[in-house]
Amino acid sequence: MHRTHTCGQIDESLIDQGVVVAGWVVAMRELGALTFVVIRDRYGSVQVVFEREKPNIAHGYVIKVEGKVRMRPSNQFREDWRSGKVEVVVESYEVLNSADPLPFQPEDEVKASEEARLKFRPLDLRRPKMQENIRIRHEITLFIRNYLSRKGFLELETPILTKSTPEGARDFIVPSRLQPGNFYALPQSPQLYKQVLMVAGFDRYFQIARCFRDEDLRADRQPEFTQLDLEMSFVSDPEDVLVLIEELIAEIFNRWANAGVSVPFPRYTYKEVMERFGSDKPDLRYSIEYEDWTERLAGLGNRIIDSNVERGAKVKALVLPVTLSRGQVDRLQKEFQFLWFKVSEGRASGNLARFIRGWNLSPYENKTVFVFVGRGRSFLESLGEFRHTVAKGFLKPEKDWAFLWVKDFPLFYWNKEEGRVEPAHHIFTSPYEEHLPLVEELESSIEREEDPQRIEELTLSILGQQYDLVINGVEIGSGSIRVHQADLQRRLLRLIGLSDDEIEDRFGFLLNSFRMGAPPHGGIALGLDRIVAMCRKEESIREVILFPKTTTGVALFEGAPSPVDPKQLEELGIRVLTK
Ligand code: AMO
Repeated sequence: MHRTHTCGQIDESLIDQGVVVAGWVVAMRELGALTFVVIRDRYGSVQVVFEREKPNIAHGYVIKVEGKVRMRPSNQFREDWRSGKVEVVVESYEVLNSADPLPFQPEDEVKASEEARLKFRPLDLRRPKMQENIRIRHEITLFIRNYLSRKGFLELETPILTKSTPEGARDFIVPSRLQPGNFYALPQSPQLYKQVLMVAGFDRYFQIARCFRDEDLRADRQPEFTQLDLEMSFVSDPEDVLVLIEELIAEIFNRWANAGVSVPFPRYTYKEVMERFGSDKPDLRYSIEYEDWTERLAGLGNRIIDSNVERGAKVKALVLPVTLSRGQVDRLQKEFQFLWFKVSEGRASGNLARFIRGWNLSPYENKTVFVFVGRGRSFLESLGEFRHTVAKGFLKPEKDWAFLWVKDFPLFYWNKEEGRVEPAHHIFTSPYEEHLPLVEELESSIEREEDPQRIEELTLSILGQQYDLVINGVEIGSGSIRVHQADLQRRLLRLIGLSDDEIEDRFGFLLNSFRMGAPPHGGIALGLDRIVAMCRKEESIREVILFPKTTTGVALFEGAPSPVDPKQLEELGIRVLTK
């Protein structure tokens, strides 16, 4: 080895001893005849002092230093370093490698743009904070592996070159040279394989699985990301999965984020979170919630309220515990439609004020009340957006962490634009057994092309055994108890509009394996990148991924995607039509 100790190991216990350390030059300072140099490796930083000669080095050089350890003057201690009380007096040094002038210094307070950070990623990854993020990612992954292994799970690898099993996003596809004109798809998740592994009798499977989805990107979405994916046989109730996962998650967040969370996490139904928070992933660090004010406000003479309520709309109110200025309300009104009032010193103002004369206003003193009228899922979702906007804009979170499960999602949503039902999670989710008769009803309603309103109501009443894990308003994981009967699976696939031929072509292998004896099974997938980012309090998952893509899907460091040699295309029988 080029060293006797790492930079982080040099401390008072080594005073007067000879050591050899190696690392990158991260700081240099000259003081008369002396040159102080800080060198760093993964384990820490140490100061080395050149007393006899001026070293021929620069920032970013990789050097090796042999010398003796001595105490630093006590007024020069670096309390934030493990090696901060000592320094190494250089006896000899060697440049192991030089470096060009660096595009930016690999320090935590980086001034470089994210583009530069991604382009010069090895340098960016050398920043202590990134080193720590990646190290913690390793620790969490290792912990997960040990935890699940202890619980009897086997880590099994499923194929990357596979058949398209659409889960909502677009597939990345890979042309086949040996089967010209045919394509593999990269897995959006190992969903079908893990179900088939239950048929194969593995009983408990997990995988730290890379998934690929060609979808619009944002801070918590990458085209290539990692799931903790798992599946269990003979589960009879969502709770079987939830209990196992919440223990794992609580341990992770308590160890690596000091969250102080205990199990069980609160459980909410989909209906409840939509009505109260307007979202299926509410941020419950804020306690504000919607109340049904239909009875309170209908019939008081407000035209908007009365005419809509007559047509079946609901009135929802959100009480914000601050008084907003006119300007602030005006700005909100540019984005959202609402009625409102606020109360200061016992007097109400706002466009609802004249309708509530005679009310006891004391509960609303120094508060602003927003009122919305409407119905249906998109109405509730807009309430969720409003809640999110005002919470982020005007409130402080009341706690650091809010963990919850959302259960009992509808099995299907009604896609108004396209006039068809689509799965709320994915089409492999099982309805609750007692809702099977409703599935039959839905089948005949669709067959008879009944009133879309009726079909929409029916779809919402069929509940799926789906569950989502939500932390601080972010969906961390999603799973379900699966359909394990070939016939029911086929019926559900038909319901979302697939023909028998399409079903056979796309899902024949799943249905065939169900006919070999499929145990009841269920599972979940958790976004590992999101978990690590949250533990590290990072806004973006790009901060915990070694080589992430930009929001336009570009890998800036290696320069992908890129054109390929025309010969490669020829071999594949592919001609590029657009550029
Ligand atoms: P789902 O599609 O909900 O379920 O994904 C599970 C979890 O994966 C994470 N995730 C992502 N993370 C980063 N970038 C993305 N583009 C991205 N997409 C999803 C989220 C999400 O909660 N096969 C099913 C699971 C199952 O039913 O067992 C599935 O993949 O944290």
